[in-house]
Amino acid sequence: MKICVIGTGYVGLVAGTCFAESGNTVICVDVNREKIEGLKEGIIPIYEPGLKELVLRNSAEGRLSFTTDLAAAVKASLVNFIAVGTPPGEDGSADLQHVIAVAREIGRHMEGFKIVVDKSTVPVGTADKVRQAVQEELDARGVGIEFDVVSNPEFLKEGAAIDDFMKPDRVVIGADNVRTAEIMKELYSPFMRKTNRLIVMDVRSAEMTKYAANAMLATRISFMNQIANLCERMNADVSAVREGIGSDSRIGYDFLFPGVGYGGSCFPKDVKALVKTAEECGYDFALLKAVEEVNERQKSVLTEKLIAYFSRENATAPLAGRTIAVWGLSFKPRTDDMREAPSVVIISRLLEMGATVRAHDPEAVREARKIFGDRITYSGSSQYDILSGADALAIVTEWNEYRNPDFDRIRESLTRPVIFDGRNLYNVRRMKEIGFEYFSIGRNA
Ligand code: NAD
Ligand code: UGA
Repeated sequence: MKICVIGTGYVGLVAGTCFAESGNTVICVDVNREKIEGLKEGIIPIYEPGLKELVLRNSAEGRLSFTTDLAAAVKASLVNFIAVGTPPGEDGSADLQHVIAVAREIGRHMEGFKIVVDKSTVPVGTADKVRQAVQEELDARGVGIEFDVVSNPEFLKEGAAIDDFMKPDRVVIGADNVRTAEIMKELYSPFMRKTNRLIVMDVRSAEMTKYAANAMLATRISFMNQIANLCERMNADVSAVREGIGSDSRIGYDFLFPGVGYGGSCFPKDVKALVKTAEECGYDFALLKAVEEVNERQKSVLTEKLIAYFSRENATAPLAGRTIAVWGLSFKPRTDDMREAPSVVIISRLLEMGATVRAHDPEAVREARKIFGDRITYSGSSQYDILSGADALAIVTEWNEYRNPDFDRIRESLTRPVIFDGRNLYNVRRMKEIGFEYFSIGRNA
């Protein structure tokens, strides 16, 4: 099948590459010239495990190409995915300007029947706006060409994007036309080997499904963060509680890890957008407002622990003159994405309180530099380099290399053996045995 994917970001590049891998001819389009020129040279703009090999192979075999020429890509393709960003507007609602701009471009250039697919996360009703934008352009050209608009939200997670796309739990297709739904099914059939779960529904329900899924996952995290905070106060252990509740098959274990709050380019913006959508139709989504508020508060829990600890020595300026080593900057492991990363809130607060911050991250240093500049120092190589002479270690992202570190080296490097762990990586009892003061989330020593 001939496909074009407009917007070559996390979703567009992964989707385009995976569709090429399953034998289709795919053109990835972007307005960012530098990105497209880089991709033509095999330079991958993001860190995503396994992506580079797939891009290189499919490009070499001629199934995957990159261009800034949207008109030519649309003319050559039957299925046209819109995978541009939908960032939050000032009021929290999803900003659809890029989606609509692409829809107009499609209408301006299409020559025969086209399927226009909303892959971006967009509020209920967007497919109608996309349809209208395409139609207005066709009318302006004075041509009558048929087209269909489909909603096909994406559920991949960064860091596991290729696997999520190739072996999805489900694929949701919102289509009002049976013929178009069949074409979409055909396109996804190579990825239906793990679970044959391709769910076809009406367009508006598909649009809502995406927000409902992210909002549900965000709700689980905020719920668990509050349970963790309560565990600390009640001297219970949240890890045991997670085991205890997760074993109930109605609850399950996933997405119940407490931590420093959820981040990333999607949960925060999608929760806000759904609250806004509800508001627009006169409904108060009180639960989601609380989910968001709890998440904001959770981002300061680790810093509060540091402040409380150092207040014992200096109550008025507890962190002034202290050096804090931070492990992990990206919003989650296996990505270099810093969008809405809790590390930004945590480090900014440490700096405000007069601390010096040194940070390590295996992949996100380049992105973090765009945010912090030279206000902090970085290491992308050894996680131990930044520890020398630091007063404490704070763990913010659970990269694998932090899970089983050389504790002797940590102890020798820090001025005192104290670790603040925002991701519950270590066994509380063992840390005590090997001589660390250890503070984590929802677990007391
Ligand atoms: P991104 O910012 O990484 O990429 C968007 C790309 O679109 C950019 O490269 C930008 O230059 C390009 N673009 C913008 N306007 C354009 C135009 N008019 N023509 C061509 N290209 C244009 O965004 P992303 O993270 O890939 O997210 C895209 C959408 O997918 C969002 O709605 C997001 O909510 C959703 N989503 C993201 C993820 C994720 O893990 N990142 C997962 C599921 C869904
Ligand atoms: C999330 C969803 O998991 C994807 O299904 C969805 O497609 C995507 O958003 C999207 O719409 O963009 P992603 O943001 O890449 O994917 O990463 P997640 O693994 O979901 O993590 C999001 C945040 O939640 C991270 O900050 C992570 O640390 C946090 N989290 C996750 C927890 O604090 N606890 C958990 O148990 C799980």
